[in-house]
Amino acid sequence: MTQFKIVLVTGNVNKKREVETILSEYDSTFMVEMDPTLRKVEIQADDIADIARQAMLEISRIVKPRKDTYIVLEDDGLYIDALGGFPGPYSEYVYRTLGLDGVLKLMNGVENRSATFRAALGVLTPSGKVELVQGSCRGRIAESKRGKGGFGYDPIFIPSGYDITFAEMSIEEKCKISHRAKAFRTLADLIISGVLK
Ligand code: IMP
Repeated sequence: MTQFKIVLVTGNVNKKREVETILSEYDSTFMVEMDPTLRKVEIQADDIADIARQAMLEISRIVKPRKDTYIVLEDDGLYIDALGGFPGPYSEYVYRTLGLDGVLKLMNGVENRSATFRAALGVLTPSGKVELVQGSCRGRIAESKRGKGGFGYDPIFIPSGYDITFAEMSIEEKCKISHRAKAFRTLADLIISGVLK
């Protein structure tokens, strides 16, 4: 049976651990590696899909496609309904500047706490094509930070159907339902079925 290699364009070990957990559902079909030497060029855009695609196009100019190897770059965003989708494509910047406390402050007294976490994957395929795969997870913003697991916005994001935040879940539980899980499962199915060559 073919084993496919997934090379992640990230230095975030949390992301690698989650992708490994998600893809372990497919036994040993996928091997996950990280290549922190590949740089994600961040363009300014309103859509994380455009950011992921553009950043992967830049990488495709310098990386030679390899047999059975998929290079994957991820861009994520937390879209809060009551804030018109903010921080969305600015999630990383807002995390570094306002932080979780700042986001909770913006949500002070706001009744509608609905939000969506989105993941956009820019993928360089073995034949050298750049493709896009997406996944999302609906949920709500917690009243306060809860939990020690995960990373980023996990302590303030409660997925739909749950009363606990991503940070209060085990990695296995988060990886059943997260935006990342949906995107990587779609990617895995497209690879296995031979659609993404
Ligand atoms: P990036 O585009 O993957 O860098 O993600 C944008 C922002 O969302 C960063 O601040 C990340 O820490 C955060 N983020 C991405 N994925 C997750 C997640 O699964 N849980 C919580 N925060 C995340």
